[in-house]
Parts: sequence; C-alpha cells; structure tokens
Amino acid sequence: MPVLLRNDVCRSFPRFSELLLRRAAEYLLILTGHPDTELSILLVDDDQIAELNRSWRQKSGPTNVLSFSLTEGEDFALAFNLLGDIVISVDTAAREAKQEGVSLHARLQALLVHGFLHLIGYDHEKSKSEAVRMLIKEKELLQQLTNKRREKMIKLAVNVDHVATLREARGINEPDPVLAAGICELAGAEGIVVHLREDRRHIQDRDVRLLRQTLKTKLNLEMGAAEEIIEFALALQPDMVTLVPEKRKELTTEGGLNVAGQKKKLKAVIGRMRDAGIPVSLFIDADSRQIEAAKNVEATYVEIHTGRYADARSEDERNREFDLIAAAAEEAYEAGLRVNAGHGLNYVNTARIAALGSIEELSIGHAIMARAIFVGLDQAVREMLGLML
Ligand code: PXP
Repeated sequence: MPVLLRNDVCRSFPRFSELLLRRAAEYLLILTGHPDTELSILLVDDDQIAELNRSWRQKSGPTNVLSFSLTEGEDFALAFNLLGDIVISVDTAAREAKQEGVSLHARLQALLVHGFLHLIGYDHEKSKSEAVRMLIKEKELLQQLTNKRREKMIKLAVNVDHVATLREARGINEPDPVLAAGICELAGAEGIVVHLREDRRHIQDRDVRLLRQTLKTKLNLEMGAAEEIIEFALALQPDMVTLVPEKRKELTTEGGLNVAGQKKKLKAVIGRMRDAGIPVSLFIDADSRQIEAAKNVEATYVEIHTGRYADARSEDERNREFDLIAAAAEEAYEAGLRVNAGHGLNYVNTARIAALGSIEELSIGHAIMARAIFVGLDQAVREMLGLML
C-alpha cells in the first residue's frame, strides 16, 4: 500500500509532519478498501498549482488541491493498482488553516481527504446531491482519521503539588497529596506528577515514597538535574522522570530546559536513568533546536511547554503559539520522541491541545486543583477528562 509523498515546496512554512500526512494517506487507503493501491501526493506552492490549474483545467490562479485520477478507463492503471496523484498547495493550505484557526497539518489532512475522494469517484461539481454525499463522506473519513490517531491517546496526568503547597502553608499533615493522587486515579487520571524541588517547598520525600508504594497508574517525578535529587530518583525508581529547569525564586517552572546548551550534562543524567530503567522526559519550549537536542541526548519523551499559549493575551497570539506547539509536537513525534505537553492548561484552553494527535499525555495541576476547591477533586478531574475526548 505505497503512498509516495514528494514535497516540492522551497519556501519555509510553519512546520508540519510529512510522515503523519503519509500515514493519514495510508490509513485512508485501508478505510476505503484500497489497501494494495498506490497513491502519490505532491506538495507544491501556489505558482506550481496555478500552472497545473491553467494547463489541465483552463482556470487561472491557484487552488488548494487538484486530483489526477489514473483509474478513469485506464486498464494500465488498474492492472498496476495505481490510483492517481493528489497535488496540494501548501501556500493555500497555510492561508486556509489560518482563516479556520486550525493547524497546517489539520488543513493539509482535510485537503488530502477531499482530493482522495475525487480520485475514488466522488465529485461535488456534478450535482447538489453529489456535493452533499461527498461532504458527508469527507466528514466521516476525517473523523476516522482523528479517531485512529487518538486510539492510544490522550492521557491525563494530574500534578498534585498544589495540595502539598496548601499543607505546607500550615505546616501540618493535611491536605495530603497522596490521598489526592488516589482520588485523581479513581476519577480516571492515568498518571500522577509531583515536582520534588531542592528547597522542598511543597512535595516532601515522604510524599514521593508513599506515592511510589500506593499509585496504581504511573508516577512521573518532575525534578531539576541536581545530584541529590538524581540519587533520590535512582533509589526510588519512579515510572519516569521529567527534567525541568529549577530556580529557587520562581513561583512555578518558568521556561523550558535549554537542552541544546547542556547536552553533555543531560546525556549523562539520561544515561544513568536509563541504566536504572527510568525513561526521561525533557520539558522544552516548542523549538526545533531543543527537539533536535532532546533527540541527540537520547531522551525518551519531550514535554512541550504550553505556558506561552496559555498566557497569550490576544487570539492572534494564542493562535501563533498554538501553531508552534502543533508543529513542535509533530516534529518531535516524527523524530521518534514520545510527546507530552503541559503548563497553564485549563478548562478553556485544553481541548485544542488535546486534539493534537501526536501528544500522548497532558500534565495539568493548577487548574484542576483550583476547580476542585469548588466542585471537589473527583468532579474536577472528570470534567477535565471530558474536555480531552
Ligand atoms: N508540566 C511541568 C513541567 C510543570 O512544571 C508544571 C507545573 O508544575 C506543569 C506541567 C503543570 O502546570 P499547571 O500547574 O499550570 O497545570
């Protein structure tokens, strides 16, 4: 079921994943009963598609997608199982993605489905009823593609640091983050995150030890790469660690790790964790340089920092930050890294991030605990999970 994808676009665009687009095309072939058929996808710019539009359809100007079927009465094509070519203008797709407020990948995928349906005989220009039939099929296939990418996704890991912050404010033994973690698990969370800071301002060693003993899901220990904490982690054996930059005076983790600037040190820490069987995630900004460095130092995961997206002051700024996260998540996924995301996610801004198919898990703390004060922790977790469907 070969899908040939050629990218003839020279200009730089917001990043998108060719691999994921090819996978979507392969899945389309299966979904529509053409598992052994060959399909070719060509990504071009507006000038190139305008030229094709002029020479093949006698129409002037660019368009978003053109389909060239090889099966229309061609015995040759059928004999060799060749379906045809889909040509997509990335220029037009990028403009349309912006107008619709979706990622470039999502728009390219929608155009792929549209072009593909033309290849297998749908034609919205034939009649009104045919247009409706094609639209329904288009929606159905896009939904199936989304479901496919979500099959093993997306999980919620709840950060219970804030419960410990409240406890430490009184210096007594309640509320207990260990009890909170159990409630989160019962409500459907698939992981618990705690940040053991060097200054022990909230989570204490005792909390992490008890969590290790009691959790039924997964313990993700967030930590700075300080020797004392590294030794604690190696002895405790959490299910994974997330390395974050840690400053004593910050209220919460501020920026992503500068992996590119400390490759040697991080590679050594990751190596020690690997020898102890502990996978490492690196908390990074949505930045190609950091993704490449994370790959170089052999991290298993990256956690993409969503803080700037969450803090954006205008819709435009939020959309720009969202595009960066979407592209970074795809890029990291394509590089073979597992991808998590988190920071500042709440009941308003999470759904859009959760819909990015390449992200495996979201790490959310503050918003859930803030809501839990009013509705209870169980309900707060369930409501967040509901938004992530
Ligand atoms: N991910 C990382 C690496 C963090 O440091 C934090 C904050 O502790 C979170 C996720 C969760 O952020 P928030 O509390 O804003 O949901």
